[in-house]
Amino acid sequence: MADTDKVYIFDSTLRDGEQSAGIGFTVEEKVEIAHHLARLNVDIIEAGFPISSPGDLASVAQIAKEVRGPVIAGLARAADGDVDAAWEAVRHAETPRIHVFLSASDIHLAHQLRKNREDIMEMARHAVSRAAGYTSDVEFSPMDATRSDPEFVYQLLEAAIEEGATTINIPDTVGYAIPAEFEAFIRSLPEHVSNIHKARISVHCHNDLGMATANSLAGVLGGARQVEGTINGIGERAGNASLEEIIMAIRSRPEFMDVHVDANPGEIYSISKLVERSSGMMLQPHKAIVGKNAFRHSSGIHQDGVLKMRETYEIMDPDELGIPGGSTIVLTKTSGRHGLQARLEILGIKPADEEFQRIWDAFLVVADAKDEVDDRDLMAIVSEQTQIKIEDAWTLDLVQVSTGDHGTPTATVRLVGPDGEAHEDAAIGTGPVDAIYKAINRVTGTQNELTEFSVKSVTEGIDAQGEVTIRVETDGGAYQGRAADTDILVASARAYLHALNRSIATAQQQASPASV
Ligand code: KIV
Ligand code: ZN
Repeated sequence: MADTDKVYIFDSTLRDGEQSAGIGFTVEEKVEIAHHLARLNVDIIEAGFPISSPGDLASVAQIAKEVRGPVIAGLARAADGDVDAAWEAVRHAETPRIHVFLSASDIHLAHQLRKNREDIMEMARHAVSRAAGYTSDVEFSPMDATRSDPEFVYQLLEAAIEEGATTINIPDTVGYAIPAEFEAFIRSLPEHVSNIHKARISVHCHNDLGMATANSLAGVLGGARQVEGTINGIGERAGNASLEEIIMAIRSRPEFMDVHVDANPGEIYSISKLVERSSGMMLQPHKAIVGKNAFRHSSGIHQDGVLKMRETYEIMDPDELGIPGGSTIVLTKTSGRHGLQARLEILGIKPADEEFQRIWDAFLVVADAKDEVDDRDLMAIVSEQTQIKIEDAWTLDLVQVSTGDHGTPTATVRLVGPDGEAHEDAAIGTGPVDAIYKAINRVTGTQNELTEFSVKSVTEGIDAQGEVTIRVETDGGAYQGRAADTDILVASARAYLHALNRSIATAQQQASPASV
């Protein structure tokens, strides 16, 4: 590896990823994802956009204080307040970075910023030099670069490097580029930007035409040595380049790419699951690398080949990515704590003692209901029991539903509230889930709009656990909730409380002043 160039992996799950419509991570989730990204060994974590809210500033600051290893970056527009807020948030990091961006395309200049090119040049110089006054690690991005006049982009980059930028990033902001064209543009930089050797070239591709990964790799072929993206490809509109795809493409085709990455592939599956459950953006089954079907073989010919030799139809080893599932090992309630612990270890899960106790208790409930618990059940249990370390304002004590095709669905719920007391109420609804949610609203005195509800089975069979994912909207915020149970109505009630507790925790965090 040492004789090939390194491609730096820049993760923006917590910034561009969070910009996806409908995603709102809690501070706890952001910090947990950042720790996991450090275990994935990414090189840079863009932890947020500190000027955007006191909560964002506080979470970037917390990540900067706690997470060791990767560079911690904060995003800033080319404005003094933004640069100062970004510095305020990242200054505690081992290696802090300020990432300044400013539109470069005529369409953005004329219709969004209402500025001319001279203004933009001046703003870029000023902001980069202000950032460089704080830290020697400054990144500059001419936004919408792929729809901009290349000559103007070259001039901007040269000026930014003169002012102290050490990484210059070429964003394909609206996912417009075609790989060959993008590669040629990146390749053209050394010829037109005289001081380019003082900076690392980075690429940042969006997926509007489904080419974010292809464009990013084309950028690497053209000379980029930093690639930006997000886990599972979450992000604005059609999303960003998927980092798991970039990492595995570079690892799988070294003879073609002639570069290497230092990311640890064994963490890919678990961080993908963490981001899936925290964001509520469920993966399509055929998602490359991490989708449920990515390593499943359906046709007889393929199954026959894989059984004879895995490589006949698999170009990557799922074990290397930490993907469970090929296993036929199942646990039962007689497997005991040691049996469960040993299986979790094989799956790469090392819960703290208190977490293990919760996983064990939940495992016994599932094992009671369905006799055999396989790896997929375990992953569902673990993800539920280890998710969101927020103080739950409300917990479910009882849910009882009467429903059927003759009669009105009626639900009774008993919840333990923030006061430690049990509160009970009942409601009727258009269906059993509607009745449960209305009863919960009555007990908690809240009104949320349910905007998404999905239920899927974790494993096959009539006794499978049902996993319910929901999204509710309240006071302008969107909150995702998730829970699994062999009874989908119980899972529905717990998923709703999960979303409700997240909205309460976020409101409390936003009310408390940002501390850095
Ligand atoms: O897509 C984009 O242009 C961005 C910039 C802030 C780099 O996300
Ligand atoms: Zn972007």
